[in-house]
Amino acid sequence: MIFRTSLLHLFLFCVTHTLGVNIESDPVVDGEGLIQTEVNKTVSLKCAVGKDTPADEELVWLRNGLTVKLNEENKKGASSVCVSPVIYDDNEATFTCQLKKDATVKASVTLRVTYPPELSGSEEVTVEEESKLVLTCDIWANPPVSSVVWALNGTMVDLLANDLVVTTDGSTSQLIAGKVERNLHEGAYQCTANSPKYGAYSKAFYVTATDKTMKFPLMPMIAAIVVVILTVILAVVSRWRKIAKCFKK
Ligand SMILES: *[C@@H]1O[C@H](CO)[C@@H](O)[C@H](O)[C@H]1NC(C)=O
Ligand SMILES: *[C@@H]1O[C@H](CO)[C@@H](O)[C@H](O)[C@H]1NC(C)=O
Repeated sequence: MIFRTSLLHLFLFCVTHTLGVNIESDPVVDGEGLIQTEVNKTVSLKCAVGKDTPADEELVWLRNGLTVKLNEENKKGASSVCVSPVIYDDNEATFTCQLKKDATVKASVTLRVTYPPELSGSEEVTVEEESKLVLTCDIWANPPVSSVVWALNGTMVDLLANDLVVTTDGSTSQLIAGKVERNLHEGAYQCTANSPKYGAYSKAFYVTATDKTMKFPLMPMIAAIVVVILTVILAVVSRWRKIAKCFKK
């Protein structure tokens, strides 16, 4: 009896260790255990059961733990999924293939999606004198950009001389003029973000300052309307008094 149980244990041990699934991918997994890809590219993953697993064993794919819908004919013994096009959100996404009847038998791969900052073209900006000017560049990229430089009329902006402030975080860089002065702030601006992988990406802004206009006089308008309404009410009230008097007689 004891002999039999240990034999059974031995048997189970062998089974779990010969059951298996393998993932093949295009592009292949790199030395870091990641599939390197870029936005808009395609990644194909193929999962197959090991030699010692029944060839009609059903497979399941998960993306970050959520089940991927598969066609009926894409489940037994081997299963392929295609990530096309790759999106930003696929960065660090983990794809797992496992046996439907035994989730411990599985294999996983993780995507590393790289992309340059989306900076290009130019924008015309019109700003009123004495108001605030904010120019924004989207520098979101993977790997992150190593530097951001702002230029005015072809040379690096002189923040002090031109009364400008630059704030940069992981996703945007902003150039701000608190109070626009035509002779200090009009001109051609350009932000340039340097990606360690993709090189320099730039966007231009052509800033024109216009004369300060009078803001619509809102408060005097409200005061005038209130006066008109009060006059009308008073007129109605006094009229009503006359009518009421008339009735009393
Ligand atoms: C991906 O493709 C879309 C549509 O063709 C395009 O607008 C976008 O710029 C592309 N993105 C990258 C990073 O290549
Ligand atoms: C930039 O160049 C334009 C056109 O030459 C000029 O009108 C403007 O004053 C210059 N801006 C600054 C801040 O020097």
